[in-house]
Amino acid sequence: MGEIITNQLSKRFGELKALNRVDIVVQRGSVFGLLGPNGAGKSTTTRLLSTVLKPSFGTAQMGEFDIIENPVKVREITGVLPEEGSHTLYPSMTAYQNLEYFANLYDVPDEEIPERIEELLTFMELWERKDDKAGELSTGNRQRLALCRALLHKPKILLLDEPTSALDPIAAKRVRELILSLAKKYGQTFFINSHNLSEVQRICDRIAILDEGQILLTGTTSELRQKLRAKQEFVIRIVGDIKKAEFVVSSQHFVESVKTGVDSLLVTIENPTENNSQLMRDLLNAGVNIVEFAEEEASLEDLYLEVLKGGDN
Ligand SMILES: Nc1ncnc2c1ncn2[C@@H]1O[C@H](COP(=O)(O)OP(=O)(O)OP(=O)(O)O)[C@@H](O)[C@H]1O
Ligand SMILES: [Mg+2]
Repeated sequence: MGEIITNQLSKRFGELKALNRVDIVVQRGSVFGLLGPNGAGKSTTTRLLSTVLKPSFGTAQMGEFDIIENPVKVREITGVLPEEGSHTLYPSMTAYQNLEYFANLYDVPDEEIPERIEELLTFMELWERKDDKAGELSTGNRQRLALCRALLHKPKILLLDEPTSALDPIAAKRVRELILSLAKKYGQTFFINSHNLSEVQRICDRIAILDEGQILLTGTTSELRQKLRAKQEFVIRIVGDIKKAEFVVSSQHFVESVKTGVDSLLVTIENPTENNSQLMRDLLNAGVNIVEFAEEEASLEDLYLEVLKGGDN
């Protein structure tokens, strides 16, 4: 069931099409990752979905509400960590006071406020800092506090713009675990903007790659890996005449490129599952002594770069 559905969602800033007819569906209780380089339109998407900005064209449904027709309802069911999340806290108020203030603003029932704040601050390992002024916390701790604020009213949907960008690796891991456990336990839906490919790969069910306001590719993590596998790099290490091996390899129609080293070849092969055995047979028949024929470990990062490169053409 779609919890976030964008329909031709678009935003112009003057002549600039910051977001151009974006269609995304995020299933309830899933974790969705929006990846893209600087200026791709990720934060603009978050701002539109959180009703801070109005679309120039198109719209989106958040839960059962339309962002244009029902922005107040959308805000009630949405928790937001904006890009400059930590700057939206009140610096002269303590961590605790900040959360108390926002809990009231979000209409969290009075009797639940102290417990909710303690639970969140404890989880984020900020309880000891509850009486520190937000403005005097480190950047990472401010970001954790901003995350607590986004979660305060137990929103159904969380829009997190680069949630771990200011966090150290341990805190970042903790936030990832939190996201996964919340999605599982409460069925909360997460929409995460990120540059961090390995992070997205680890926690997101589905991923979209955005560039210059347009979605270039979307799919599950394994679908994206599958696409990458259609053209895979292999390392072939041999003992003996490398020039002969190069000749055999480069004369195959399914070999897209060959880079030759001292005793190894880096070969890009189309449909390797079908073609690898043929290549190996031809090498053996030519008398090449193969000592290694291994798949180069490919990551989402390779795919991401490949897709973006294609987008430039
Ligand atoms: N308020 C605004 N007025 C004019 N242009 C804007 C405004 N906000 C964003 N833009 C432009 O829209 C484009 C998309 O910006 P956006 O902040 O959404 O990118 P992003 O993907 O979040 O990038 P980053 O990874 O750097 O955070 C950029 O070219 C940006 O300069
Ligand atoms: Mg951004």
